Amino acid sequence: MERQHGNKLILVGFMGTGKSTVSKLLASRLECKRVDVDERIVSSTGHAISDIFAESGEEGFRDIEARVLADILANDAPSVIATGGGAVLREANRDLMLASGLVVALTADAARIIDRVQSDDARPLLQGDAASRVNTLLEQRKHAYDFAHIAVDTTSLTADEVVAVIMEHWGKKQ
Ligand code: S3P
Repeated sequence: MERQHGNKLILVGFMGTGKSTVSKLLASRLECKRVDVDERIVSSTGHAISDIFAESGEEGFRDIEARVLADILANDAPSVIATGGGAVLREANRDLMLASGLVVALTADAARIIDRVQSDDARPLLQGDAASRVNTLLEQRKHAYDFAHIAVDTTSLTADEVVAVIMEHWGKKQ
């Protein structure tokens, strides 16, 4: 896995679009490291994401997220990186990601996202009526993922099919 400009494959996308599953499969196919930004936030702070939101608010979380993302992208090792759904909200994060490798946006329709996130109550931004929160946030973020180099609609694809599409683009960029 060698790239002239940036050796990272970076997955962005709304919650429930499959970043976590797809990043695991990609890292195994590419035989490289996988880094999950949320997992790194939890391991480096010693706090759950929901606790950080509760104690420091969303902006406090975004500050930590930006710092951890920059740290991960500064590492030389080729890697697949799964970001949290809101990591794209800051321009500095977007610029850094674009300069670090191939940025792939995973998308899915609202019904599929709601289906995927409903059984998981760990996401602070989806507390309460998850379906209505998803619809509101999807509207607020409708162009937030457009900056990515490529987008893959995962609505009716299996994780393996998503990986195949991404591998094709990745192969062309080498
Ligand atoms: C967030 C998405 C979450 C996590 C945090 C905020 C968001 O990650 O970073 O709860 O703002 O969309 P996932 O996209 O992995 O669920």
